[in-house]
Amino acid sequence: AADNRIAADLLGWYDANHRELPWRMPPRELAKGLRPDPYRVWLSEIMLQQTTVEAVKPYFRAFLEKWPDVSALASAETEDVMKAWAGLGYYSRARNLKLCAETVAALPGGQFPETEDGLRALPGIGPYTAAAIASIAFMRPAAVVDGNVERVVTRLFSISTPLPEAKPEIRAHVERMLAVARPGDFAQAMMDLGATICTPRRPRCMLCPLRADCSAIVNGDPELYPVKPPK
Ligand code: ADE
Repeated sequence: AADNRIAADLLGWYDANHRELPWRMPPRELAKGLRPDPYRVWLSEIMLQQTTVEAVKPYFRAFLEKWPDVSALASAETEDVMKAWAGLGYYSRARNLKLCAETVAALPGGQFPETEDGLRALPGIGPYTAAAIASIAFMRPAAVVDGNVERVVTRLFSISTPLPEAKPEIRAHVERMLAVARPGDFAQAMMDLGATICTPRRPRCMLCPLRADCSAIVNGDPELYPVKPPK
């Protein structure tokens, strides 16, 4: 019951406060039945793996302009893709991006697989990225757990187990909260909360939609979570 309420409060906050990002389908559009383009979701998630939202934006736009869909990127010259990636860093991402586009374009139907397992089999897509694409592009109830989500969840439930041992416990909480509609919005709401309110230092708890349910606020200091492993 508490998990349901937390998810509902988080989604209500996201509806009013979500960041407008070029790869996102806003909740009002999703409500009309529009669906995000899996190619755009995939491209953004690869770019965001080790790069900030602000740095990614211009690259995301430039890639879409040059290669508007997965078959266009599959047919591109690798050298052109590497040039367009220049400045984003971690160049193995660009090589895998091209390989992944070729693999997807060669599948029967030429579309991205819709399951976490199918996505994870592709070059450059690990467990986190597979879950993000499955939930955001395909509405699958996949648990998307990154550092932001670990921070939000350890605070919400005052999980005092240190990382990384706390990971299964964190995942179990996310899976319970996910048992609602809109898994893609839930994942992105967690990302936005972690990026803008439930920040590592000086979290803005007064603005937090989950403060009434946050055990770390009641117990003292949200900044104490997540607990780091002893050195
Ligand atoms: N970081 C990784 N994926 C993201 C997304 N979809 N929105 C905002 N930040 C992200």
